Amino acid sequence: MRPHRVETSLAELAARIRRRADGQSGRFVLGVAGPPGAGKSTLARGIRDELNIAAGHARAEVAPMDGFHLTNAQLRAMGDLARKGEPDTFDTAGYVESLRLLRESPLGVTVPWPTYSRELHEPVPGGAVFDRQTIVVTEGNYLLLDEGKWADVRPLLDEAWYLDVPRPIIEKRLLRRHIRGGRTAGDARAKVENSDMLNARLVEHTRSRADLVLRKYGTGYRID
Ligand SMILES: Nc1ncnc2c1ncn2[C@@H]1O[C@H](COP(=O)(O)OP(=O)(O)OP(=O)(O)O)[C@@H](O)[C@H]1O
Ligand SMILES: [Mg+2]
Repeated sequence: MRPHRVETSLAELAARIRRRADGQSGRFVLGVAGPPGAGKSTLARGIRDELNIAAGHARAEVAPMDGFHLTNAQLRAMGDLARKGEPDTFDTAGYVESLRLLRESPLGVTVPWPTYSRELHEPVPGGAVFDRQTIVVTEGNYLLLDEGKWADVRPLLDEAWYLDVPRPIIEKRLLRRHIRGGRTAGDARAKVENSDMLNARLVEHTRSRADLVLRKYGTGYRID
């Protein structure tokens, strides 16, 4: 039997979050997980923008997991620079603590959040700032991992989405991105095969921990 699938738009997805957040006191945290290159950052920004347009003020902000990448200097010192992007190359405890802080801080209190610069290839401390936003959209590969400190993330999410993309599409996107970022075609292929796709396979196992599994479909998304 074919699984039942529902088409939806970014506006409808944002409305779902609005309804859920309206019924909750304190900050509402939406998590968007999925393999590398799935379009998580794009979806998170889209949801934030829809929420803010509907509210007429800055009601939501993105809190990227990527802001908790260890710095290149830290990774070099550990001999782990080539493994950058794997689950243990992040400050997972810092990420969990910051999510907790966002949930517990009263509105109006400033909470800085690190972002990640794709130009510098480094985290940017305080790249985002929360104060009166009542909705947090956190996004990254490992939000739904059930290993080590990562397992502390899921209980801090009021709702979790998994963005699913077929492997061949991810591979093509990541290759393109690495080459654009200055790698040779050979280096790009090696990074995708030896690192990115291993991370992607690890993340695929976390799909079942999401409330909603989404796939890009036409101009919107499809709920699987
Ligand atoms: N819906 C989409 N359709 C086509 N291309 C897309 C879509 N969403 C994102 N992309 C492209 O795919 C690439 C990855 O998108 P994005 O940066 O949002 O993914 P990501 O899941 O955040 O990746 P990462 O895990 O590396 O941070 C980008 O080049 C982006 O332009
Ligand atoms: Mg991203």
